[in-house]
Amino acid sequence: MLKIKQLVKSYGSLEVLQGINLEIKKGEVVAVLGPSGCGKSTLLRTINGLESINSGEIYFKDELISKKNIIAMRQKIGMVFQSYDLFAHLNVLQNIMLAPLKVQKRDEKEVKEFALRLLERVRLLEKQSAYPRELSGGQKQRIAIVRALCMRPELMLFDEVTAALDPEMVREVLEVVRDLANDGMTMLIVTHEMNFARAVASRVVFLDGGRVAEDESSEQFFSSPKHERAREFLKSFEY
Ligand SMILES: Nc1ncnc2c1ncn2[C@@H]1O[C@H](COP(=O)(O)OP(=O)(O)OP(=O)(O)O)[C@@H](O)[C@H]1O
Ligand SMILES: [Mg+2]
Repeated sequence: MLKIKQLVKSYGSLEVLQGINLEIKKGEVVAVLGPSGCGKSTLLRTINGLESINSGEIYFKDELISKKNIIAMRQKIGMVFQSYDLFAHLNVLQNIMLAPLKVQKRDEKEVKEFALRLLERVRLLEKQSAYPRELSGGQKQRIAIVRALCMRPELMLFDEVTAALDPEMVREVLEVVRDLANDGMTMLIVTHEMNFARAVASRVVFLDGGRVAEDESSEQFFSSPKHERAREFLKSFEY
């Protein structure tokens, strides 16, 4: 599904990603972990073209991602961030349907049916006409996930989707992500929720010093991480 080869990304003289190699197979759920500032968000942002890269290659389904096809690629790669940037002047259904209609030019009836099905799945059907200001943080984040899913992506990138939420709302959002995993969605998940990462991810990629320091099964990583940095990292979560 995704193949990253020798990916290098710098901001000025700061080389954040120093040659990342990574392969994600269809249906895999991979947790991307690592200390603050190690480049997790940068990696996710380069994958869906929100950041340019200095060198290296990113392939999505064996097709090299480039300036020419990034618009099309982005429709197949959904991304959800910490801050759910829903449009304040649009209601829930309008927020969800906007890109499928305007960008993908899909049929309105089909999109609406799909949107309502997704809303039902995250138990927010009754909020379809609500505006973002009328929703809780957890509800907004579930809407942001539905909005990404309504594009029918084949790969989902999650960047700390629960970081801005109160503890009781974290669970409802993580449940949605877990359901997606159970349904076989291919996902890259950056999270600070270690119990969640262990439960949902089949694999852990631990970034340190701009490189992939560990890439193993989540069982292996959480029970006996190989590197000292990874051990320290887990300790900092009192994990
Ligand atoms: N637009 C930018 N311009 C300059 N430097 C940046 C930019 N975005 C990120 N950086 C730097 O790149 C490094 C990696 O940042 P990134 O946001 O990818 O880290 P992260 O692993 O996601 O951290 P966190 O866990 O705190 O979210 C940091 O040192 C950061 O300061
Ligand atoms: Mg980040």
